[in-house]
Amino acid sequence: MDSSKHNNSRPLPPYTRYTMDMFFTSAGEGDAEITKFNEWRVEVHDANAYSFEVPHLGAQRTEVQVRPVSGPDINLISFASYNYLGYSYHPEVVEAAKAALDQYGLGATGSPVLNGTFQIHMDLEQQLVDFFGLPGRGCTTFSSGYGANIGVISAYIHKGDYVVLDRRSHASLFDGAILSRGNIKLFRHNDMDHLKSVLESITGHKRRILVCTEGVFSADGDEGNLVDLVPLAKSYGAAVLVDEAHTLLVSGPGGRGIAAEQGVLEDVDMLIGTFSKSFGGVGGFLLASQQLSFYVRFYARSRMFSCAIDPAVTGGIIKALELGSGPDGHAKRKRIMENADYLRNKLEGKVDTGPSHTWIIPVIYGHERITIPLSNYLQDHGLDTSLMTFPAVPKNVSRIRLFVTSEHTREQLDRGAEIVLDAARHFEFSTEFQEQPA
Ligand SMILES: Cc1ncc(COP(=O)(O)O)c(C=O)c1O
Repeated sequence: MDSSKHNNSRPLPPYTRYTMDMFFTSAGEGDAEITKFNEWRVEVHDANAYSFEVPHLGAQRTEVQVRPVSGPDINLISFASYNYLGYSYHPEVVEAAKAALDQYGLGATGSPVLNGTFQIHMDLEQQLVDFFGLPGRGCTTFSSGYGANIGVISAYIHKGDYVVLDRRSHASLFDGAILSRGNIKLFRHNDMDHLKSVLESITGHKRRILVCTEGVFSADGDEGNLVDLVPLAKSYGAAVLVDEAHTLLVSGPGGRGIAAEQGVLEDVDMLIGTFSKSFGGVGGFLLASQQLSFYVRFYARSRMFSCAIDPAVTGGIIKALELGSGPDGHAKRKRIMENADYLRNKLEGKVDTGPSHTWIIPVIYGHERITIPLSNYLQDHGLDTSLMTFPAVPKNVSRIRLFVTSEHTREQLDRGAEIVLDAARHFEFSTEFQEQPA
């Protein structure tokens, strides 16, 4: 189906003649694309349609107050935050962060390799090693998940080596591969036959190979096929990196993620996590062999040349880890799946929710041109969501992403579904599952 057609029977505002991707590349001499982008931005702003970057006035709860470009502050039900288990505002997490703030002050004020490491960072790294419970592993923290991916890949892969990525991998995995100056190969999403043929074509070169994938892909809410990928990659002598950004504390035994759930955690060479999602903070980490973990402490440039995680945030993360790996996490993991299934049931068959069976539910609307009016519509009707459009996803499969949390109430889930279905009628979304480019 050509999804560019069904969305456009309704007249759209003039600013929709442009989409964001049109300003990515140089438009020739001078700063033409920068000027043009800013003309468009002003046009969107003047039409009172700029609904991105809206300032939130409190914590990322399931209901948030925001300040639009004009008019009074508004309340929205939020399905836009990665705060999957509500730990960013959990009173014990906030208390732990305050205690660390009092002890260590505001910032780390330096690279972790130099002065920026505090005892609290070492405590967090040790507690993560204990959490995974794998002998001989070490943990290295970074100031973001993005920094962990670009730092780890570019430290491990050298010129002439290979990075083999699932085509739907997060931008930070791609950027790490580009930064490494290794050869980049892509395989079709979760397609093991294709991965095999890619590995087959490079294995004779006797260079280091790193295969990268994710636990749960955030564009579709589907799982990586780790149970097949890990042994396949190993059989070609490749190392495996799994980005578990969206899964830790949320899925798997004790919250240890999808590799653990699929029984292949021990064979994953590099596990990447972020603290910006279920942990409710900011930062990232690598779990790997002790030797590799020590190596990247020095050779990951995003770590060496960037400040360590704030100590207060680190204190909060330690508390979130403690809660999330105990009975509190267990109860929340049960609730988040119940909530996700409840919302999905309300949407399935009425809109295209893709292959998701997790707490990330996409609603595919198709053409990128309606992104801004749709975002506005949702906000005007009381919903905060996360829209994803080209180039983060392929053309014509732009989507609303609904991040369900353990903290949503049934009323909020009902209301969320109602608003999304209203929008779907208004903008004439397809109800059919659209095959996406792999
Ligand atoms: C799969 C994946 N990896 C890494 C990141 C980057 O994490 P951070 O926001 O901690 O930099 C994200 C962010 O959304 C992500 O979805």
